[in-house]
Formats: sequence, structure tokens, C-alpha cells
Amino acid sequence: MTYARIAGTGGYLPERVVTNKDLEAMVDTTDEWIRERSGIKRRHIAADGETTSDMAVVAARRAIEAAGITSNDIDLIILATTTPDKVFPSTACIVQRRLGIKTIPAFDVQAACSGFIYAFDIANRFIKTDGARNVLIIGSETYSRILDWTDRATCVLFGDGAGAVVLQADEEAGVISTHIHSDGEFEELLHVPAGISSGYATVQREAAYIQMKGHEVFRKAVGTLGKIARETLADANIDKEEIDWLVPHQANLRIITAAAKKLGLPMERVIVTVDEHANTSSASIPLALDVAVRDGRIKRGDLLLFEAFGAGFTWGSALLRF
Ligand code: UT7
Repeated sequence: MTYARIAGTGGYLPERVVTNKDLEAMVDTTDEWIRERSGIKRRHIAADGETTSDMAVVAARRAIEAAGITSNDIDLIILATTTPDKVFPSTACIVQRRLGIKTIPAFDVQAACSGFIYAFDIANRFIKTDGARNVLIIGSETYSRILDWTDRATCVLFGDGAGAVVLQADEEAGVISTHIHSDGEFEELLHVPAGISSGYATVQREAAYIQMKGHEVFRKAVGTLGKIARETLADANIDKEEIDWLVPHQANLRIITAAAKKLGLPMERVIVTVDEHANTSSASIPLALDVAVRDGRIKRGDLLLFEAFGAGFTWGSALLRF
């Protein structure tokens, strides 16, 4: 039986840091409000001209190096993003060219903030069925380009960045289980209304930016994340006490705290980066993972639970031995 195991992680954050204080000068908000309601202190914002693929390539190289392999060993690239460089080709193909890897399959996955979990689920299935041995999974986002910087309800919440992992075939698990779900019923609660087939060029200015009914999304996120955690543990027949680290999507510290509470996990066993990175959508889990692997908190053999919730709605989880 072939299993999948994380062989290496990598991350990248743009150089420019925007603090809550900086935002006070742009919109009617306060550092105190942002910290209290979301836990965010600062975020990284891409430089002019810096793209999703630019960030993805750096994170990918770091993950490949950490895995102790070379780009030529990669046999599949799956890139999760909601903010691709171009309408087409996929950002995965752009990254493939820049990594100098020829002919292997490369494609994008779009599941908003759950994108990394979706990509992880697909990669795990490829490995389990012997369709690939070294999958490069990337989450990379430039949300700063789809934010209305005059809308205080959304512009304070997001940041840019990229995270990557190499998922590798192994005889031992590794990945124990993955779970993905969606419910299109809630499309309008969190969306960017503009799109290609709906008339991208003719829409109102606001339609090109994120629109969110924050409070409704918040309530749904807390309930759904509780359910997915229960589903994941029951399916694997694992007690919540056995989890070493919860690595959640980083949207809001209050959502993360509620999820940890439902699992009975103290916050010391939860990886939190939302304070430093804000919400980087599909990049948030691999970025948080990379931070905790590199600072030595997450160690080989630890039992990890990933969980995410995002626009769609989409949600999902992964349970794995690191
Ligand atoms: O990653 C994908 C999923 N996304 C999320 O999970 C985000 C989910 N939602 C949230 O994180 C929270 O709902 C927010 C952080 C967006 C908002 O927190 P909240 O406790 O739900 O606040 P609220 O939306 O109910 O707004 C409270 C008040 C409102 O004023 P009134 O109507 O009570 O007078 C807002 O107008 O706060 C006001 N407000 C602000 N005030 C200062 C909204 N944004 C700001 C702001 N600064 N930036």
C-alpha cells in the first residue's frame, strides 16, 4: 500500500508590511478594533508587479529544498489560488516553466480559502493510486489586488503570501485521511461578483473586489469547522486528545479559538499566524505549517489536523502524521 507523507515545506511573504496603524490612515478603523475582532496585527502586501506565481516559485523552491529533492523529481504540480496571474494559462503552468520542469501535469484548483485542503486531497489520491510520487502543492494569493482599499469591513482582514509542501510517496502514513465539502447555496455571503462570463469588462468598480457578510460567514465558519473536526476524528477512529497540533486556516483568531475549544485543545497546541499574516486564503495553512516546522514546534511523527473554511462555501480537513 502506498501512502503520502509531507517531505518538505516552504513559505514566502512579501517584504512590505502594512500594520493596523497604517490602515488607520486609509480607512475609518482602529488598531484596537482590528485586533479585538480578528486578532490581526499586520499583514504582508505584494510589491507592485509582484504576482501570485512570483511568490509561489519562491515557496516551492524552499519546499523542494527542504524535501531533499530537486525540481526534476516533481511529477505533479497542483496550485491552489483565487488570484491567478492570468485568466489562462494556469498559474501552475507558469510556475512549472519557471521551475524548469517539462511535461509533468500541472493545474490550478480554486476553492477560495479551502483551496490548499482541496489540492492536498487531490494530491493524496494521486499518490495513493500510484499516479505520482512527488507532488508539489502550493497555495499562493495576492488578495491585495481584489480588496477595495476604501472598504474597512474587508481591507483590514487579508494579506498576500505563498506556502508550499512536497507530498511524497512512502510505505508508512503520512496522510491518514482527507475530507472536502462544498455548498454553493451561500455564494453571495462571500464573493467577488465580477467574472469573465458575467461581463468582467463592464461591471461596476465594487464588483471587482471582495464583498463579505462577515458576521454570517463567521457564524457558519465556527459551526462547520466544529463538524468537520468531529467527522475527521470519527472517520479515523482517533481521539481528539491524540492531536499534537491543530493547523487551521487563518481567517480570524476568534474562529480559531472556537475551533480549538471544541476540540478541547489548549491554544499552545494551535499554530496561529493570523496576527502576523492576516488571512492569506489558500496560502494560510501551508504558511502556518512552514513557520511551525522551521521554528521546531512541529516535529516528525506529530499528529496534525488541518482544517479550512472559505467562500463557496467550501470546507475541508486533513489528518496526518508529519
Ligand atoms: O477566510 C474565509 C472566511 N472569512 C472569514 O471567516 C471571516 C469571517 N468574519 C469575521 O472574521 C468577522 O465577522 C469580522 C472580523 C469580519 C467582523 O467581526 P464581527 O464581530 O462579526 O463584527 P460585525 O461585522 O458584526 O461589525 C461590527 C461593527 C459594525 O458596526 P455597527 O453596525 O455595529 O455600528 C461594523 O460597521 O464594526 C464595524 N466595522 C468596523 N469598525 C472599525 C466593520 N469593520 C470595521 C473596521 N473598523 N475595520
